Order: sequence, then structure tokens, then C-alpha cells
Amino acid sequence: MAPQHQTRKATSRDRLTSAPADDGETTASRLLDWYDAHHRELPWRVTPREHANGVRPDPYRIWLSEVMLQQTTVEAVKSYFRAFVEKWPDVEALAAAPTEDVMKAWAGLGYYSRARNLKACADLVAKRGGRFPDTEAALRDLPGIGAYTSAAITAIAFDRPAAVVDGNVERVVSRLFSIATPLSEAKPEIRGHVERMVPATRPGDFAQAMMDLGATICTPRRPRCMLCPLRDDCSAVATGDPEHFPVRLPKADKPLRRGAAFVAVRSDGAILLRKRAEKGLLGGMTEVPTTDWTARIDGANTVAAAPFPADWQSSGRIAHVFTHFTLELEIFRAVTTGVTPAGHFWSLPADISGEALPTVMKKAIEAAIPGATKKPRPN
Ligand code: ADE
Repeated sequence: MAPQHQTRKATSRDRLTSAPADDGETTASRLLDWYDAHHRELPWRVTPREHANGVRPDPYRIWLSEVMLQQTTVEAVKSYFRAFVEKWPDVEALAAAPTEDVMKAWAGLGYYSRARNLKACADLVAKRGGRFPDTEAALRDLPGIGAYTSAAITAIAFDRPAAVVDGNVERVVSRLFSIATPLSEAKPEIRGHVERMVPATRPGDFAQAMMDLGATICTPRRPRCMLCPLRDDCSAVATGDPEHFPVRLPKADKPLRRGAAFVAVRSDGAILLRKRAEKGLLGGMTEVPTTDWTARIDGANTVAAAPFPADWQSSGRIAHVFTHFTLELEIFRAVTTGVTPAGHFWSLPADISGEALPTVMKKAIEAAIPGATKKPRPN
């Protein structure tokens, strides 16, 4: 009898009749061939052709893009990435920038602790000579770099084998192996599959190819299996219902919180702002005065909670979805005499678009004064 673990070349008959083989090499090479022809052009990416011609990725740009891409889509990140590298072309430049400027440039990307960690990481790397470490373990010791980001930088920036598992990769692997375990519990199994698939050559392109496949072919809904280079390997295709994977447990409804926000306008159009506490949600970002955000509906969430008496007029209500709750804010607007309450400041119309205003605050100000947070047009 043949030894249990002896490998032999898969035949096309095997592919038709058996579960997908765990033969990482052939899956990876099929995927890399597809990537060579169909990769996305992204502003931080070294293309396969450039790579083959000896161009090496800049670890600073890979790190910056991966931190921006945590919890944010590729489309949303592109313009922020370009603006950042134009302003701060290397890690030393970012380290030399005032934190306030970095927060302003980040405003709108969300999850603002990422921006504070980005700055702390740049400071540390610059202090240590400006070179990013090239191992997962050393990268993980830096602020804002977790398991996913350290693996992504190791693979993409340094072309070292690492199991890079983001949401796209989880979906691709769940389908390849038709994993029936709910995704929240299947992560170690998925990681194991990725570890076995990572090729010794071009591990960075392999990681990016998995992401591109998940983003463009193996999409959450209506995957384009007819175009998939891994179609013959995929056991979810064989089930006839690839969309069933990854299996998810039903989502709990998000709790609703409520509050009121007060947009005070001076006669010259300046708006009253303040800075949020450094720690916690939207830490260090700028806001208009608001009440606490709670689940209660009482006086604490109405005009009775205004920061000072004025002719407050209702400007409607906005909603914003955070990770763990949905927020509804009643918006009030008043034209005021311009007294500055302690801890507040006035921002002139020309400066408002450059303030570190998170999206929820831009929505609140826009409800009261349409167009106020948009960049003024050059004359
Ligand atoms: N999502 C996260 N990192 C990415 C990358 N490097 N390329 C494409 N999509 C990504």
C-alpha cells in the first residue's frame, strides 16, 4: 500500500470527483497566473511586471496603505493614500508632522485610533533609524500593527511567506473548502489552509492575488465563478450555492443611542467647535458641542441640554452607524453673539473643511448649514 502522505500529481479526473486537494502549489500557481493578467492597479502596489523587473515595494507605503485599509474599502482609501504620500513621502516626514495635521488629513476615514497609532508608529520607526522591521513578530510590536497587518507587510513589502487573512481571503477559503463551521469559529481552520497554500516564491503577490480574487471574482453576492481561476479547486462551486459560504451566525441588532448636537454660528459664519477627549470613541477629533450619546429619551437629549442659551432652531435629525451602535442626533442651530465657552473655539468658513471632523460631525454641521464642510472652491 502506498504511504499515507505520499503526494502524486492531481489529474483532471481527481478535480471532478474529489474534494479540493490541499496541494498548495498548484492552487497558488493558478492564482498567480490569474493575478499577472487581472491584478488591480492600486496606488501603493508594485505590479507583477514591475516586480519581475526588480522593483521593490516601499515598506512605508505598504504599511501606510495597510493601516488605512483596516476596516475601510480600497475605493475610500485611494485618495487619502495619495494625499498622505504627497504631504509625507516617507516615515521621517510623517514623524516630523504635528499630530493635529495628521488627524486633519485622516478626518473622514473613520476609526480614529488608527491615526493616533499611525503617528506613534511613525515616530518610533523614525527614531530607530527609519527602517521598518521585516518580520511578523517585530512588526507586531509596533503601535497599530496587529496579526493581519504584520502578515500583510511581511508578505507584500518584504516578499516573505506569511498567512495574510482578511475578510476577502476568509471568503475565498471558506468557499474553496466549503467550510460549514460559522466564520466566527472557523478562523484557525482558515488560517491553516492559507498557511499551506502560501508559496515560497512570490508570497507577496499571492497575498494580493487572494485579496483581488475576493474583491473582484469571489464576491459576497453573485460570485463570478465562471471567470475564477480556482473554479476546478472549489468545493463550494460543486455544492451549487457558493454564496452560502462563509456561514454566518445571525447578527444581533445594533442598539440605538440618541443625542443632540448644537451648531452655533457667528455673524461672520464661523462655527463653534471643541476637541473630544484623547481616549475613547473619536478620540482627539473635533466636534460641535453635543450631549452625551445614550439610549435615553429625556431632557438630556433635547434643546434643554444646549451649551448656552440662544435661539436654537431645530435643523432635523441625522443618523450614523458606528461599529457597536447606531446614533441618532437631533440637530439644533443658532446664530450667536460669538461668546466663546471654555474649551471651545471658532472655525472660520474657509477653515472648516480642514478641521479634524469625523463623518458624523460633518453630517451634523451639513444638516444645519448645507455646504459648510465642503472645501471652498478656488477663485
Ligand atoms: N485590502 C487590504 N490590503 C489590501 C491590499 N494590499 N490590496 C488590496 N486590497 C487590500
